[in-house]
Amino acid sequence: MVISTLRTLKHGLENALSALQRRRRAAEMERTAPHATRAQIAVDLKRLGIVPGDVLFMHSSLKSLGFVEGGPAAVIDALLDAIGPDGTLLLPTYWIPGGTLLATCELPDYVFDPRQHGTHMGALPAAFLERPGLKRSVHPTHSCAAVGPAAQFLVEAHHLAPSVFGEGSPWQRFATLPQGKVLGLGISMGPVTIYHRVEDEMGQDFPVPVWLERTYSLPCIDHDGRRCMVPVRPFAPEIVQRRIDQKGRDDLRQWFARDFSAAGIKVNGRVAEADAWFVRGQDFMVHMRALAKRGITIYSTAEELARADAGS
Ligand SMILES: CC(C)(COP(=O)(O)OP(=O)(O)OC[C@H]1O[C@@H](n2cnc3c(N)ncnc32)[C@H](O)[C@@H]1OP(=O)(O)O)[C@@H](O)C(=O)NCCC(=O)NCCS
Repeated sequence: MVISTLRTLKHGLENALSALQRRRRAAEMERTAPHATRAQIAVDLKRLGIVPGDVLFMHSSLKSLGFVEGGPAAVIDALLDAIGPDGTLLLPTYWIPGGTLLATCELPDYVFDPRQHGTHMGALPAAFLERPGLKRSVHPTHSCAAVGPAAQFLVEAHHLAPSVFGEGSPWQRFATLPQGKVLGLGISMGPVTIYHRVEDEMGQDFPVPVWLERTYSLPCIDHDGRRCMVPVRPFAPEIVQRRIDQKGRDDLRQWFARDFSAAGIKVNGRVAEADAWFVRGQDFMVHMRALAKRGITIYSTAEELARADAGS
């Protein structure tokens, strides 16, 4: 009893301290970083090539933009301005309380509830969750949220999909939309989820055994308060270690950025202070399949990349 009270107190103090440090860093940014506004961000998105009617799947870093007046909500407004009323914004609002899929699958009492759980994917997805009219998929690790005419279509069947990235998932559905674009705001080609759609789709033909054998079944509460069980098959931990989003894989991130740009499908530019890029979702899929057929994946070693360069 005493120990658990002390533990709760310790967590409370740690949270208060990190909130204070965050506020201090934001105040420091406000003083020292270049300022960006909603209007400027919308203009820069347009200049990059984002057009009305686009369906954007965005991965982002807020602080890469400089100091944004109006905070993360102003960036979301700017994105919605750029795509207009016919466009849809889809964001990763994943909640992965164990830190990895495997650890989350092994949490003893975890039940995902989209009305209660936030996101671990940064300030912009967190601010997005506050939007009125937002639709959010019911998924214990990879819940996505969307606003716009295609929102319902993108998120409605995620809990029924046979795998995280499988048929009915937001990525499978996103890839059917010709106006889909994967947008990176201030991020490299590391933390990008659509890679996994290709792995799922290719199954046994994918050159790397990405998944563990076991599929877990995790409980979720849907938007009507009903309980459902959702399948999650974790990534194999030893394969994850050499993945493109890992600290030591700058070589792979740069290789992919160069390769996608050379293929003419990665459009690079700048939004406020951030390096920004987009790739059409369907081009992304076609290119990843072609790379996988040559044995190149987001798990390729430096030697494999060198061999690919020598052969091309
Ligand atoms: C991890 C990641 C989110 C970190 O980016 P970040 O910019 O440091 O963090 P956030 O986007 O959460 O923004 C919070 C930061 O913005 C700062 N900030 C606060 N108010 C701000 C404002 N008005 N304007 C600009 N920055 C502001 C905060 O101080 C904080 O910085 P700090 O951590 O140095 O204190 C990013 O690198 C990333 O990987 N994004 C992609 C995530 C994703 O989609 N993953 C899917 C993978 S499959």
